[in-house]
Amino acid sequence: MNIIKTIGETRKIIKDWKKSGLTVGLVPTMGFLHEGHGSLIARSVKENDRTVVSVFVNPMQFSLGEDMGVYPRDMERDSRMCQELGADLIFNPEAEEMYTKSFYSFVDMSVISEGLCGASRENMFKGVCTVVSKLFNIVTPDRAYFGKKDAQQLAVVKQMVNDLNIDIKIVGCDCVREADGLAKSSRNSYLTHGERAVAPKIYAALLQVKKMVICGEHHSCVLTESFKRSMYDEPMLQTEYAEIVDGLTMQPVPQVTGQGRCLMAVAVKLGKARLIDNIEI
Ligand code: PAF
Repeated sequence: MNIIKTIGETRKIIKDWKKSGLTVGLVPTMGFLHEGHGSLIARSVKENDRTVVSVFVNPMQFSLGEDMGVYPRDMERDSRMCQELGADLIFNPEAEEMYTKSFYSFVDMSVISEGLCGASRENMFKGVCTVVSKLFNIVTPDRAYFGKKDAQQLAVVKQMVNDLNIDIKIVGCDCVREADGLAKSSRNSYLTHGERAVAPKIYAALLQVKKMVICGEHHSCVLTESFKRSMYDEPMLQTEYAEIVDGLTMQPVPQVTGQGRCLMAVAVKLGKARLIDNIEI
């Protein structure tokens, strides 16, 4: 497996694969890989002849005061994991390779990116859309794999390929959880022992909301209130948002409608970590 730092060399290898008629899957990541990323890589390896994993902590999707500087990194462990799962290439550029001094173009989106995480993280989806478009142009994959834990990001990327006629199939993969229900995330490494012990309450509260829906409660305000109340019980957990949204448009809905089209999406602050999660309802 190759670890490549330049766009030119990555393109050359992929062009050769394509000349031989091989299909390519891309798993975009910011590194510090966990089993959630592992499931995306394994799926790509199964569905494509070649798999590229990008490892790039994208400065453009962080605002001032966010965790860009301390975002966890472990390239040695990441490359071991990619190798074991059968990936063929890690694209691991420096920031200067992706954003030259004269970089002036951005990809941005309205509506879908404006609520939930987009409301508090101003530049995040502009940064995500820009870097993901660049990765798509560099790797030219047949398929690209994203986790459903980041439901809004997945909806944004799907909308972007549709709007911009990008000929890549976006594959959404199920969230991978710890045994106690906490969604796997690189940012879980920020949690202290005590914080880690209360973190599973987030998913437990989401499951409780799902139960309420199954029992016939469809009013979004009642459901979100139930989630928030569960968080109030534990002072370390601070709800940033809890909303019932349409799973495609990420717009708030007043009532849960049928056929599993809705999600409850939440962001909860716990110590230095900001944890996001969601559940289909
Ligand atoms: O989900 C992530 O890790 C990032 O937002 C992504 C998609 C790799 C873009 O930097």
